Amino acid sequence: MPESAGTNRETESAALVAESPKELEFDLESVHIEPIAKKHKRSAFVCTNGTIQNYCRNNARQHNDDYMVRAFVACSGDSPEVLGYYYLALTSYKIGDSDNRLDDRSDVKFDRSKAVPAVYLGMIGVHTDYQGKGIGSLLMMDAIQRTAKISQHAGLYALALDAVDEAVAAYYSGKFGFKSFKGSTTGLEMFLPILEILAALPRGTA
Ligand SMILES: CC(C)(COP(=O)(O)OP(=O)(O)OC[C@H]1O[C@@H](n2cnc3c(N)ncnc32)[C@H](O)[C@@H]1OP(=O)(O)O)[C@@H](O)C(=O)NCCC(=O)NCCS
Repeated sequence: MPESAGTNRETESAALVAESPKELEFDLESVHIEPIAKKHKRSAFVCTNGTIQNYCRNNARQHNDDYMVRAFVACSGDSPEVLGYYYLALTSYKIGDSDNRLDDRSDVKFDRSKAVPAVYLGMIGVHTDYQGKGIGSLLMMDAIQRTAKISQHAGLYALALDAVDEAVAAYYSGKFGFKSFKGSTTGLEMFLPILEILAALPRGTA
């Protein structure tokens, strides 16, 4: 093989490696979170959790456009690549349903209405290649801030979610202060009271 041909091939493959998202310099400062839209490349979203991956690819935008959920994606700069996403939806937990007891305070406060209103955080996931770089924490902080804003317009008790496993539950508890539902047998049904959210956020951000 002529030397130049080998050199060209090496140059080409080096260029391919450089173009791979994994090899790009990652800058968390460039990541922002915005409402899901047509421009986002959802089909390229890969996640270690198949349910979360497939919801992004197949359902997130349709459900968003139907107002079943409101979905938000993490992107870097002007890129339409989806680095991570989550959705919010309104929900309520019936008082008297022992599995869904949040805590003693919610039982007392919502005794008359028999249901505890909450914002539900679903499908939070980060692209496999970008996990462990802070994007999940950015998404969670965005969800917490949006919940604070919703609380200025409609009554709600907490931001609630279902953790996928104990390790993730420990992350939500340790980093953000989520607690397990009092009625939870697994500890994976979790909530963060709105009063704690509002107390922790800087004044004027809700
Ligand atoms: C869970 C997830 C959203 C976190 O996002 P991320 O960008 O990787 O997280 P961050 O980089 O902001 O934070 C990393 C922290 O998450 C914790 N963490 C993330 N995933 C974890 C897991 N599966 N087990 C234990 N800890 C985990 C780590 O302890 C780490 O803590 P540290 O910063 O103190 O080292 C992301 O890892 C993910 O998409 N996982 C697969 C899908 C999933 O399980 N989603 C949760 C559904 S409830």
